Amino acid sequence: MRSGRLEQRRETQGGPYVVKGPPVNRNLGVLISGRGSNLQAIIDAVAAGRLDARIAVVISNRADAAGLERARAAGIEALCLSHKGHANRDEYDRALVAALRQRRVGLVCLAGFMRLLGPSFVEAFPHAILNVHPSLLPAFPGLDAQRQAWAHGAKVSGVTVHLVDCDLDAGPIVLQAPVPVLNDDTPESLAARILVEEHRIYPEAIRILLDGGWRVEGRRFISGS
Ligand code: GRF
Repeated sequence: MRSGRLEQRRETQGGPYVVKGPPVNRNLGVLISGRGSNLQAIIDAVAAGRLDARIAVVISNRADAAGLERARAAGIEALCLSHKGHANRDEYDRALVAALRQRRVGLVCLAGFMRLLGPSFVEAFPHAILNVHPSLLPAFPGLDAQRQAWAHGAKVSGVTVHLVDCDLDAGPIVLQAPVPVLNDDTPESLAARILVEEHRIYPEAIRILLDGGWRVEGRRFISGS
């Protein structure tokens, strides 16, 4: 069903591996585990007409995720698919893929989804999974990135939206925004300013992906607009 969605070709003469992204199906699947403020930013961008997309489903691995309520309040299908009922990660990944495919999702947006996704998920949505991470990758991958930047004494941190591959916080970078670390910052005050930028650039990165015309050359994401 998805073959032909991406034109992939290996450059001759040893050039980088190139993937070209045509406009994709505008049905979004948003995966969350908690508060859902990035989900809310996407909901708001769609409602305001800044993002031409439809959120087909919001899926959380935790029943108590506040983001599920945000989805319901916006009239979006909100589903809890717990990882606990599955024997291993691969089985859980396949269940997620099935739920997303059933709803004809074209682009998966991870928004505070606290589970690692394995090859069967990543290969089901090639170059069609985005994640938002609260640091300027490749600095400070993993958990609690804002505190890591603060504890390291970084002068600048920020936010990264990137394509997801099988490595943690490592796929090609679509957009980044810097946030200065102030002398009197706490991890919490820094996280709050980073969050403002997350909400600003995540919908923008989704728009770029959906509009197509971009390409990935090796590690480099080159926007079409
Ligand atoms: C955000 O800081 C995001 O960058 C990180 O997890 C947090 C999720 O927050 N991946 P929210 O659930 O979107 O409010």
